[in-house]
Amino acid sequence: MIPVDLLITHASQLLTCPGPATGVRQPTSRDLGIIDDGALAIRDGVVVDAGPTERIASEYAAERCINAAGQLVTPGLVDPHTHLVHGGSRHDEWERKITGQPLTGLVTGIASTRAATRDASSKTLHARALHDLDIALVHGTTTIEAKTGYGLDRAEELRLLDIMTSLTHPIEISRTFLGAHVVPAEFADQREAYVQLIIDMLPEVVGRADWFDVWCDPVAFTPTETTALLTAAQRHGLPCRVHADQTGGVGGTGIAVAFKAGSVDHLDEVSATDLVALGHSDTVAILLPGCTLHQRETTVRDWPSWCRRIIESNAVVALSTDYNPGTCPMLSLQVIMGLASRLYRMSAAEVWLGVTRNAAASLHQAHRVGGLTVGMHADIVIWEANDHRQVLNRFGHNQVDQVLKAGKVVVQNGALL
Ligand code: NIG
Ligand code: FE
Repeated sequence: MIPVDLLITHASQLLTCPGPATGVRQPTSRDLGIIDDGALAIRDGVVVDAGPTERIASEYAAERCINAAGQLVTPGLVDPHTHLVHGGSRHDEWERKITGQPLTGLVTGIASTRAATRDASSKTLHARALHDLDIALVHGTTTIEAKTGYGLDRAEELRLLDIMTSLTHPIEISRTFLGAHVVPAEFADQREAYVQLIIDMLPEVVGRADWFDVWCDPVAFTPTETTALLTAAQRHGLPCRVHADQTGGVGGTGIAVAFKAGSVDHLDEVSATDLVALGHSDTVAILLPGCTLHQRETTVRDWPSWCRRIIESNAVVALSTDYNPGTCPMLSLQVIMGLASRLYRMSAAEVWLGVTRNAAASLHQAHRVGGLTVGMHADIVIWEANDHRQVLNRFGHNQVDQVLKAGKVVVQNGALL
């Protein structure tokens, strides 16, 4: 018998989510790598074998064993787009919007969250981010991407990056610098100066962030400004991800693809030409059904056809919360999965790959997380469900039983340890 640290046996279904590190295009149920009555052998936080319980139990011996009889076992979920560190809440603005009340007298949108973030101490922002990470973890997220973008000046943006770096939590964090979120009000008449300010910050950003992000949109940065920013980031060796084509189609997706972005996110107004380019690239399309639901003004359209066009372009498609106080104040990828099924009519295979291997691919981490094949990190969710489709079918309550990060149990009976 081969000694290992931990065996997980008798999973009703074990989803291994195999495939290339660049992600799976147009996935079908075969791409989930489902093993019935499946088992995992884990040593030093890594999967050393995955297969039917009968074989694994006869080849490996471990002191610790989790009997997952009647339970679904999947990779830990990967959330590849969040605005994790921020202060305040925009419930007032939102309630007025959905009930058709005037917004007079209210500072709204990103400016409002910027002010609330600025007013919060680093200790407060740090504690809130940790609490938010706890919520994500109990709902099954084991890897997250987190952006700045509510500082919008040198000192505040660096403060947010340093808060992100100081977070110690079982969830691993990929840090993104989004100083180019919007042009702040004080630079409205000198946009070029703000673009230059962001470019001049890059030497200080390198080492503090893993990614550079820019919102290319009629209400944010123009294609020309986006190209200047991405060129500078590239010169500093910072890979990019791009918020694109959210409130209007100005070609952000095509620019993101040209810069070999890890992801292009939103895509509401993506053009047919840019979709062709996306389908031929390794840039991952990140869809955000939480924003679709939460932003009442953009919900009236044929979302299933929109989504199908993106999938059929042959792009690698992932899903995310886009957790932020404006367009989606929600941290549960389970809710996102249920919404992707209902609002976008994505298949179970498309949804599951979207929050595992494909989400990890967008972060260039799919060689280590987002799957449970040999050599992958033992980031695992054990569900209160016996079939992966059941997690999508049921909704509104947390269906996580246990979460393991690198082979260590961090959530048990749905609660943090
Ligand atoms: O991803 N697109 C830009 N940024 C956010 C919204 C930020 C906010 O409203 O505070 C998004 O939707
Ligand atoms: Fe966002």
